[in-house]
Amino acid sequence: MAMTKLFSPGPVMVKDNVRHSLLHYDICHRSKEFEALFVDTQAKILRLFEADDSYDSVIVSGSGTSANETILSSLFRAGDAVMLIRNGMFGERLLEIINKYQIPLVDCPFDWATYPDLGVVENMMAAHPEVTVVAMVFHETCTGMINPVPQVGALCKKYGKLFSVDCVSAAAGEHIRVVDNNIAIAASVGGKCLGAFPGSAYICARKELLRSLTADQCKNVYLSLYKHYQSSITSHQTPNTPNVNLFWPLNVALTNALDDETLDGRIARYQRCAAIIREGLTAMGCRLLLDSHMSNTVTSVFLPAGVDANTFLKEMEKRGYTFYIGKGDYAKQGMIQVANMGEIYEQDCRNMLEVFSAVLKQMKQ
Ligand SMILES: Cc1ncc(COP(=O)(O)O)c(C=O)c1O
Repeated sequence: MAMTKLFSPGPVMVKDNVRHSLLHYDICHRSKEFEALFVDTQAKILRLFEADDSYDSVIVSGSGTSANETILSSLFRAGDAVMLIRNGMFGERLLEIINKYQIPLVDCPFDWATYPDLGVVENMMAAHPEVTVVAMVFHETCTGMINPVPQVGALCKKYGKLFSVDCVSAAAGEHIRVVDNNIAIAASVGGKCLGAFPGSAYICARKELLRSLTADQCKNVYLSLYKHYQSSITSHQTPNTPNVNLFWPLNVALTNALDDETLDGRIARYQRCAAIIREGLTAMGCRLLLDSHMSNTVTSVFLPAGVDANTFLKEMEKRGYTFYIGKGDYAKQGMIQVANMGEIYEQDCRNMLEVFSAVLKQMKQ
């Protein structure tokens, strides 16, 4: 079968050394060898989030939702409330978790693709002393919008709230800067901008916060932040059997991003690729969903009137290119998402645009 180029926002194309690292001989997760790999990976995760030594990281075997659920099921004691700032499907995913754990909620919703109004956010924060944690998505993947993390981080400092940020589609694609942005806790995964495989999630948090957790306040058995942290500091291991084999690809992908390409270099490549994609699509007469606050890695674009999005995606798939159909109502409006995460380079974008243009022309006829 012909190889498909994934222009989808995860899973992503991985580098050969990431794939080859899967062929490592088998080891036990209670061995010294695993512990060394674990500690090394934790240290690299801290660098990915641009953390200092007041932060620590834990690794959760699961998808991005597992890391978000670990955080949201672990941070609250009786009487604590969460304020959720949301403007898209992944903010709604956080809402689903919050509701499932029956955490008292101060909801701060904005329409999809609407940049949060900081005046509204501040008034709500000021009016709710019961809120201990403010949660938000860094990169709302369903639109491609980057939310106002530095500004909300500053408000959290002013009002004494812990800032929890879903960085699932942002880490390694944007600068997270947990220290500068006053982020107390953040989650991400290997299988997106970092260029590892799906199934490795991780959390970077202030040590002070991690140390303050109790077993009782964590409401999930597997996804307990307390257990993950305790296990990590006492034995350099995970509380349950982790996806041992995925630790090598995760570690290699971190080295690729941080040491070989460098975080600045990777982010600059993503910016160049996104610019090529956006320029090319606009030149073809396609309208972009956003005109500002766009991420470095996801372009949401409406196909020209009369071009059926699902048929278009099938035609592109036949030619070796995978995209996403728009989420929710966007699909009905002919919106698709073109991502440039992982092993996608400038020439891949140019090649893809040529095929994109040819298929559009053919479908318009
Ligand atoms: C911002 C954001 N949060 C959470 C998720 C959920 O991640 P997963 O599907 O890996 O559970 C995604 C997935 O795309 C995402 O983009």
